[in-house]
Amino acid sequence: MGPIIHFEEIDSTNNYLKANCASLRHGTIVTADRQTAGRGRFNRKWESQEGGLYFSVLIKPQHTDFWPNFTQLMGLSLCRAIEKLYPHTCLKWPNDVLADGKKLCGILSEGVLSGGRLEGMVIGTGINVGQKSLPDVGQPATSLYMLGIQADKQTLMQDVMNYFWQDYPSVEECGFAAICEPYRERFPFRGKKITVKNGEKPLFGTVQDVSSRGTLVLATESGPEEIYIGDLIV
Ligand code: BTN
Repeated sequence: MGPIIHFEEIDSTNNYLKANCASLRHGTIVTADRQTAGRGRFNRKWESQEGGLYFSVLIKPQHTDFWPNFTQLMGLSLCRAIEKLYPHTCLKWPNDVLADGKKLCGILSEGVLSGGRLEGMVIGTGINVGQKSLPDVGQPATSLYMLGIQADKQTLMQDVMNYFWQDYPSVEECGFAAICEPYRERFPFRGKKITVKNGEKPLFGTVQDVSSRGTLVLATESGPEEIYIGDLIV
């Protein structure tokens, strides 16, 4: 585990690591009690009031073709840590964690470019831990507290990061194939009719699988589609 920098309040833990990427070492973690400008995927806002766990980790892989798969590794690590506290937990491709079908965690990963090359990657995670209620964000969401679980944020983050570093070398070497089986075991959407949104036209179809590359394989009216990025609406 790298150094941990803690703020009571910050705009966004992702912003801090992106702005300071050059001077910080691989594995540095930034945590905050609250964020004033927490961000989610697809430019959405991430509500970040007191009670949630907000942290970002900076990674600087030496050599890898598998950058996107570190985000899926974080999703799997979150699921592994949380299912010990609450068993009805699963993964929604690519990296949301749901409990009782409601969103409990989200991940926003951002690359940091320097002179045209990727200098690092910031993986930012939000977990609804102690919130007694959550603002309406257009989709069902829950917190561990709302599920009747009292969790210590530091212990939870430590557990998540232990899982993350345990599989990090094999994902760096082999990509998603290294975590394909445990990921699939936690992905209950095979055979389900869903919609995928990624800013363009929504795609409808039946989920076939998550491939050994970590992409979503969808059977659509016009044949199988391999999807690299998007939001799965169930
Ligand atoms: C999503 O599901 O849309 C991703 C949400 C990611 C939120 C986390 S909280 C810590 C880090 N800082 C941010 O501004 N966003 C991520």
